[in-house]
Parts: sequence; C-alpha cells; structure tokens
Amino acid sequence: MNAFKLVKKDKVTVVRYRIVPIAGEKHLDSEALKEKSEFYLFDELKPRLQSGPIGFKLLAQVAEEGDVTDDATEIWPEARRIVELGEIQIEKMMDDAESAKQQKSIIFDPIPRIDGLQPSDDPLLEVRASIYLISGKQRRSAEEPAKAEDAVITDAAVATT
Ligand code: HEM
Repeated sequence: MNAFKLVKKDKVTVVRYRIVPIAGEKHLDSEALKEKSEFYLFDELKPRLQSGPIGFKLLAQVAEEGDVTDDATEIWPEARRIVELGEIQIEKMMDDAESAKQQKSIIFDPIPRIDGLQPSDDPLLEVRASIYLISGKQRRSAEEPAKAEDAVITDAAVATT
C-alpha cells in the first residue's frame, strides 16, 4: 500500500494505513462462495447494521530508517510498530437517492490535501490521483441509468471498457 508522511514541525513519520474489521476476518473458499449470491456482502449490510454499528480499527504501520517508502510493492517487515489511530464506524446506510447522488459526484483522491499529512514519494500516488480524476469526471458526465438495475455492471459492459 502507498505510504504517507505525518508531519509535525521538522519531524516526519512515514506510515502505511491499515483498516481492520473489529469483527475479525473470515475467508470463504470457492465451494462456500458458490452458496452465496453475487451481492452477498452488500446484502448483509442492512441486517448487520440492525444489531449495531460495524467497526473498523484505523491503524498505522510505522516505517523505520531504511524502509522503502516510495514503492507500494515493497512490503515492510511485520515486526514494524503498529499504532492505533482510531476507529471507523459505519452506523447506517444512505437512502438510495442520496447514495446515487454521492456515487455520481465523488472523486477518489489518494493525495491528502491537508496540513500535517503529505503523500510519500511513491510515484503511484500521483498516477492514481490522475486516473481517479478521469474516472470521476466520466462518472459525473455519464447518463443516468433508466432503472437502478441497469446500473449494475455486467461482464459484457466491462469487456467493452
Ligand atoms: C496502492 C495501490 C492502490 C490502492 C490502495 C487503490 C485503492 C482504491 C480504492 C480504495 C478505490 C475506491 C473504491 C471504491 O470505494 O469504490 C479505488 C478506485 C479505483 N482505482 Fe485504485 N488503488 C490502487 C491502485 C490503482 C491503480 C494502479 C489503478 C490503475 C492504474 C487504479 C485504478 C482505480 C480506478 C479506475 C478506480 C475507480 C475510480 C472511480 O470510480 O472514480 N487503482 N482504488
């Protein structure tokens, strides 16, 4: 994953974020997946939220002197210090109208444009920022689907993109 710099005066700490589900991680093998619908993760959201928020720990893995911080493909040793920054909680789902509006307008930008937080020297970050801008602009200018079902991307649609 891309690294980021936490900057306080002259002190720079390079970190990689981790977002870890508090409920733990569970992997399904291909047999178990056959039993599931295509949208099972999304379909599970509503019932899960009825029994309380879904939480994730926001962690930062801290680089040490000599670690490669400008190449997302270089994995840092697992022994690196992990600091807990906070928690992300999903409390409710947006209604469909608001969600459609957000999906249309959101631009994913991996470059933090705030004081105290800077991109690392990883060139992938600038590339991602440019690609996500193009992608976001295309979504903004795309025609509205007539029905919600039409918005589901089919394999055929993907093949033409
Ligand atoms: C460290 C590497 C990368 C990470 C962690 C990453 C992560 C993400 C995330 C979190 C999203 C938003 C997904 C969502 O919520 O729907 C996203 C979207 C996307 N990513 Fe990446 N990505 C990486 C590299 C790349 C690369 C190398 C490319 C292409 C060359 C790419 C192309 C895209 C595109 C086209 C989107 C959709 C943007 C949009 O809908 O506006 N990503 N990525």
